[in-house]
Amino acid sequence: MSSYSGVLETYRQYLDIPAHTRTVTLLEGHTPLIPMPRLAESLGGGFDLFVKFEGMNPTGSFKDRGMTVAISEAYGAGAKSVICASTGNTAASAAAYASRAGMRCIVIIPAGKVATGKLAGAVAYGAEVIQIDGSFDDALNLVLAISQKHPIALVNSLNPYRLEGQKTAAFEITEVLGDAPDWLALPVGNAGNISAYWMGFKQQHERENTGLPQILGVQAEGSAPLVLGHPVEHPETVATAIRIGKPARGEQALEAAEQSGGRIIAVSDDEILKMQKILAANGVWVEPASAAGIAGLKHELERGAIDLKGKTVAAVCTGHGLKDPDIITKDMPKPHVLPSEMNALEDYLAREK
Ligand code: F0G
Repeated sequence: MSSYSGVLETYRQYLDIPAHTRTVTLLEGHTPLIPMPRLAESLGGGFDLFVKFEGMNPTGSFKDRGMTVAISEAYGAGAKSVICASTGNTAASAAAYASRAGMRCIVIIPAGKVATGKLAGAVAYGAEVIQIDGSFDDALNLVLAISQKHPIALVNSLNPYRLEGQKTAAFEITEVLGDAPDWLALPVGNAGNISAYWMGFKQQHERENTGLPQILGVQAEGSAPLVLGHPVEHPETVATAIRIGKPARGEQALEAAEQSGGRIIAVSDDEILKMQKILAANGVWVEPASAAGIAGLKHELERGAIDLKGKTVAAVCTGHGLKDPDIITKDMPKPHVLPSEMNALEDYLAREK
């Protein structure tokens, strides 16, 4: 029997969490770091590329790492209800962990901008889903205000325990590679994850003298407040997970990028969707936002702004492709229709592809 016990128990001694924390886990974490030699070659080659496939977490996104810790703290503190604003993944994750702990979970989402798999997850896990006629940023303002006024625990990444959990992904990458990668590329939305990775890498560096990666944070062009240097009133992108105009941890994200000798850039929706297809053609199907990190690497390589020769690069793919099936099915060619006969199938196979 496996003795793996989830990120909280595995890394508890390295997490800054209160003693009252009572573990609520779905054995999240321990996700694969997948070598991508063919993809690296297609990007010019000469470097080692790995995908940290966070879509393999129990609810299909990296949010589970932070959520196990945030919910465990809230549960230990005696909270009966939790609330979050979400573009979808946080909602599904909060719902799963809250229901496991027997807590009420309320999620506030922007109308019409949450992918099917995420909404279905939140509902399936038993959350009360409230849709507002506004953006993620409006939803976040709302939950922040309500959690300050009422005894209801906020589990967005403003909650410090979310970051404590999410930083464990940096530990895992470093353990598998034997050192930190030279570059880490990842999508940036509300900016909690990039902040958490930088915390994790720095902590491991101080503890074990491992290296520190340069961090490439990637936003979508229509939702790129950290690149523009000001909030975006009406963010837009096909990558709805990162459709955020005023990131709660924006300052921390900019600091992480700068301290690491990296940067935050923006890529177009077209670049994101193309990279989603390329990743899938290499066997890794991720939701659009999750392709942004590698789309950013490609963008920088093509304009000669990054030299990866001899380097080790890790890209975080934050959520599973199954979260957003509509983006694929809406342009999908119709399946071939054949009679249920061997000959018909043989004729079909004999055709050129
Ligand atoms: N990738 C995916 C798949 C996400 O769901 C998110 C954030 C991010 C990247 C960006 O991470 O916010 O820490 O910078 N989703 C949040 C949500 C906002 O509500 O599910 P971040």
